[in-house]
Amino acid sequence: MYYADEVIEEVRLRNDIVDVISQYVKLQRKGNSYFGLCPFHNEKSPSFSVNRDKQMYYCFGCGAGGNLFTFLMEYENYSFPEAVQHLAQRGGVELPVMEESGEARARKNHMNSLMEIQKITAGYYYYQLKHEGGVRAREYLSGRGLSWETIHQFGLGYSGRAGNNLYRYLKNKGYADELLKDSGLFQADEKNGMYDKFWNRVIFPIADVQNRVIGFGGRVMGDGKPKYLNSPETKIFDKSRNLYGLNRARSSRKKNLIICEGYMDVIAMHQAGFTNAVASLGTALTAGHASLLRRYTQEVLMIYDSDQAGIKAALRGIPILRAAGLHARVADLSPYKDPDEFIKAQGAEEFQKRLDQAQNSFLFQIRMLEREFDLGDPQGKTDFYRAVAERLLEFTQDLERNNYIEAIAQQYHIEKEQLHKMVNTLALAGVQVQRPRQPVSAGSDRRTQPKEGAREKAQKLMLTWLVNHPGIFGQVRTYLKPEDFTTPLYQRVAQMLYEQQETEGRFTPARIWNQFQDPQEQKSAASLLNTSLPVDSAREQEKAFADTLLRILEDSLLKQRESLEPGDMKGLQENINREMELKKMKANREQLHISFE
Ligand code: UTP
Ligand code: MN
Repeated sequence: MYYADEVIEEVRLRNDIVDVISQYVKLQRKGNSYFGLCPFHNEKSPSFSVNRDKQMYYCFGCGAGGNLFTFLMEYENYSFPEAVQHLAQRGGVELPVMEESGEARARKNHMNSLMEIQKITAGYYYYQLKHEGGVRAREYLSGRGLSWETIHQFGLGYSGRAGNNLYRYLKNKGYADELLKDSGLFQADEKNGMYDKFWNRVIFPIADVQNRVIGFGGRVMGDGKPKYLNSPETKIFDKSRNLYGLNRARSSRKKNLIICEGYMDVIAMHQAGFTNAVASLGTALTAGHASLLRRYTQEVLMIYDSDQAGIKAALRGIPILRAAGLHARVADLSPYKDPDEFIKAQGAEEFQKRLDQAQNSFLFQIRMLEREFDLGDPQGKTDFYRAVAERLLEFTQDLERNNYIEAIAQQYHIEKEQLHKMVNTLALAGVQVQRPRQPVSAGSDRRTQPKEGAREKAQKLMLTWLVNHPGIFGQVRTYLKPEDFTTPLYQRVAQMLYEQQETEGRFTPARIWNQFQDPQEQKSAASLLNTSLPVDSAREQEKAFADTLLRILEDSLLKQRESLEPGDMKGLQENINREMELKKMKANREQLHISFE
């Protein structure tokens, strides 16, 4: 369901952000802003700010930020349309009624039928487990230590031995072949026609957060291959947006969620009282999983196998969780392979201890990074410290970065001031030049997860400065066009900001969020207008301004040059002219002096 931009903006204007957020958070006025304890992470002193002029909120502690809509989406778990509806009612705005098209209705019916089939199938497998034919499956499950109560809670089942029993069962209920094909429960070939996908396996129904069965996993009872078969993705089964066990874990009322790799692990943990456990569905962790988790918790405990592959999976997952605004810790179960085995061998109490000892994900990353360097060698040591400083730069909030600097300085016996200085130097250098990448050894996640480049950082900084110091717009405009912001998201934001200035003579950054209805994009946009550099003095800030401006221009010209059609002489000439201007600007860098006041 989509509302027109004007309607959304009307709703936003009829509600004041300070009034609305005051209903949830106790706010105190300090200068232009209101401060309170952040509702999105645990803290003792207020770093959550709400600004009436900008109609935005931002937490300097955890980086949560946005406008009224995003606040309600985060706080109340509303979807975007729900947040609009809630605020429309509050502000007395009448929303247009949405008509559903015939096509939309047909799609909905199809999805409903697919859901229905999964539900009937779950019941069918469950029945097979309970009856005569299921005796071996029952023995298998109880041999793995599952109580009947647990089996019932998770709706486990057994798929039977014959090749097409489920198919015949559903056909008898009147479902058409077309629909059954789309259900992912069957295979077909010319000789045999349609037959069941799961054959003689114990069955794990997979439910979405609303408790609707959307797919299945099936395990061989013994050592056959493949160990697990899973439903393929279907119209209702998106593996990158669902997590096994989340339907139960979401209401566990624990302070965090545990993410692990296996169905059996989730079930074993729930049975042992760790009812906050979930697993990915035989795939790697995705941004979709992370934002799903973020709806229910602020902290995730990661449990991956204790081997090299598990460490790699954890290192891959950490930046994904962090990008969604989650705090992550990594638990170590060695020498046991997985939670199921650990709990069997050591029991729930010992397991709880391992959870309590789980290491902060950043410190875990640094500990794994350390393995790549020879700390006995002075050069190796210097390289390691430099790599650590680079990682520290990824924290855009001063407070957070400083806390980590302190923790790391302590743990690795580096002088705090030293590390601080290193980070500062890198921060300024980062805006000027792209550092050559250090060679990375296998097992590092740096190749798959390129960190935010200097290019993005420069664009983000400039946009933040513009919003915080609108006085500089006139000058900035003479150097930079919105197109010079080459990252697509930032370019859209720049376009909107420029347009606001040109048509209304001021920025309305809160309106920008209306455009971003995807929570992931909102996150990026929020941090975008709240970027800061760890610079200490006004002089450094001015130097940073010139560096940032030149950096953006340089990137933009390069990109422009690369995208020129061969033979576009006019374009080339223009590009060269701008190059010359850029050269002049570089030579007279002191003229780029700007006052932020
Ligand atoms: P594991 O091989 O670690 O199995 O796979 P497990 O969870 O410990 O299961 P048990 O204890 O041997 O019964 C972890 C997860 O990876 C996916 C499944 O989701 C499984 O739970 N997987 C594994 C597959 O999808 N297919 C396979 O063949 C193996
Ligand atoms: Mn296992």
